[in-house]
Amino acid sequence: MSSGTGAVGWRKCRYPPGQNLQLFLFLLCRFGFVNGQIRYSIPEEMRKGSFIGNVAQDLGLDLKRLRSGRARIVTGENTQYTELKADKGILVVNDRIDREQLCFDTMPCSFSFEVILETPMELHQITVEITDINDHSPTFKRENILFEISESALSGARFPLTSAEDADVGTNGLKEYFLTENDHFVLKQHSNADGKRYAEMVLQKPLDRETNPNLLLKLIAVDGGNPQRSGTVNINITILDINDNAPVFNQSVYKAAVTENSPRDTYVITVNATDADFGPNSIVRYYFSDLNSGSNDLFKIDEKSGTIFIIGSVDYEKDKKYELQIHAKDQGGLTDSSKVIIDVMDVNDNAPVISVMSFSSPVSEDSPPGTTIGIINVKDLDSAENGQVSCRIEENVPFKIKSNLKNYYTLLTYSILDRESVSEYNITVTVTDAGVPPLSSKRTFNLKISDVNDNSPRFLKGVYDAFVFENNLPGVSILVIKAKDPDENQNARISYILEESRVGGGPVSEYSLSYNGARSPCTAIFGHHLFPSHRFF
Ligand SMILES: *[C@@H]1O[C@H](CO)[C@@H](O)[C@H](O)[C@H]1NC(C)=O
Repeated sequence: MSSGTGAVGWRKCRYPPGQNLQLFLFLLCRFGFVNGQIRYSIPEEMRKGSFIGNVAQDLGLDLKRLRSGRARIVTGENTQYTELKADKGILVVNDRIDREQLCFDTMPCSFSFEVILETPMELHQITVEITDINDHSPTFKRENILFEISESALSGARFPLTSAEDADVGTNGLKEYFLTENDHFVLKQHSNADGKRYAEMVLQKPLDRETNPNLLLKLIAVDGGNPQRSGTVNINITILDINDNAPVFNQSVYKAAVTENSPRDTYVITVNATDADFGPNSIVRYYFSDLNSGSNDLFKIDEKSGTIFIIGSVDYEKDKKYELQIHAKDQGGLTDSSKVIIDVMDVNDNAPVISVMSFSSPVSEDSPPGTTIGIINVKDLDSAENGQVSCRIEENVPFKIKSNLKNYYTLLTYSILDRESVSEYNITVTVTDAGVPPLSSKRTFNLKISDVNDNSPRFLKGVYDAFVFENNLPGVSILVIKAKDPDENQNARISYILEESRVGGGPVSEYSLSYNGARSPCTAIFGHHLFPSHRFF
């Protein structure tokens, strides 16, 4: 606990208060009238009353001499660290001795005082060396060290750290630092000229804000005492963003469908790209590729929201599908690409169109059923049901329509025609598609039936009776006869011929026929049996 030592060269004189005594002691001290010197060594922070050394024994004085000489301590200090127990001849601790307070970092640390005895006067110098105990931990002045480090910082970048203070000295003083184990930084330790230890972090592996925007490390300072003491400071590292991430579309292909003829500003789809960077580096703008020739006039992309709208007229009959290349770009010019496939849905916006391939009019009334009158072609630009057409004839007429080939229809006669009953037909062909609502087109064919000489002329009466007065002059009109033929033109032209026979004993040639006008009935001037007859060509 304590040890007496012999006189050493080191000496420090302290002077008690009191003018005369001070001067006296000064002289004694100055000229070396000091009878003896002892040196003790004790650790700091010992309890009051702890034994320092046996002064009587070490000075070779007996207890009687101590008593008779009124042995006492004289010191210039205000604090009386030690007490001389004259009855036992020992020196004990009187007050708390804190090495750090007494000497700060001076080594070794000691204080001296004199033991004075009277009659005769003796002056003995006692030096007490205070050895350090590890009663202080390394401490940091701050609780947190804040760093803002760009994620672009290169390996090898150095970041000096606050050093810790340990009031203890020697091995009890600050020994080394430790840094929380981490992937990015290693600790480098240094000592400056006066032996103070400090540390710095060295970046070993680049930082990535997107993986970890904050790093929380601890710097631990330890001393060399036993038991060891330590102090800790938090190192709070905020990683600053650089634009090291390109935007990324959340889909490699976007699919949308729009109906054709949709009005301007119809919503199509919203695309989205995210950028892992922070702040302005993460702001993404959307735009179409220049490669989308043509379709860029039909669609518009909102550069901020990524929403795609229709701005032109989308026509299914022109394009059934659009493929738009899109880009996303951040402020730093990093980009990503994706595509949008827009299916156009058909709307029944096209009526079927009828084209006449051939049509023959007139048609002879003796044409057999099944005779082809015409061929039409029907086209509907729409697709699926919207483009599926059916063809029918509106009127109740002896014609039918038949399709042998897709989109081609044949107009046929259905039954026997008779010009004399109906000489002309208006045949309306209607084509209708299967869309909802359906669209249709009509075409009217005016078909004339040409005549065939299939009717004989007929007299209006089976027998004509006439009375004539005898002794007529030749040329007297006897009667008017009339025949009709329902055929047309030449086929209806009637000639009247008197059949060769005898009438009343005379030949029929004694009579003659005369026509009242070109096509009027015939007047028999004279004669008996009359027969209408056709003129044939
Ligand atoms: C056919 O249509 C034409 C023109 O509309 C019309 O003059 C004619 O009388 C019609 N014929 C029949 C038989 O309906």
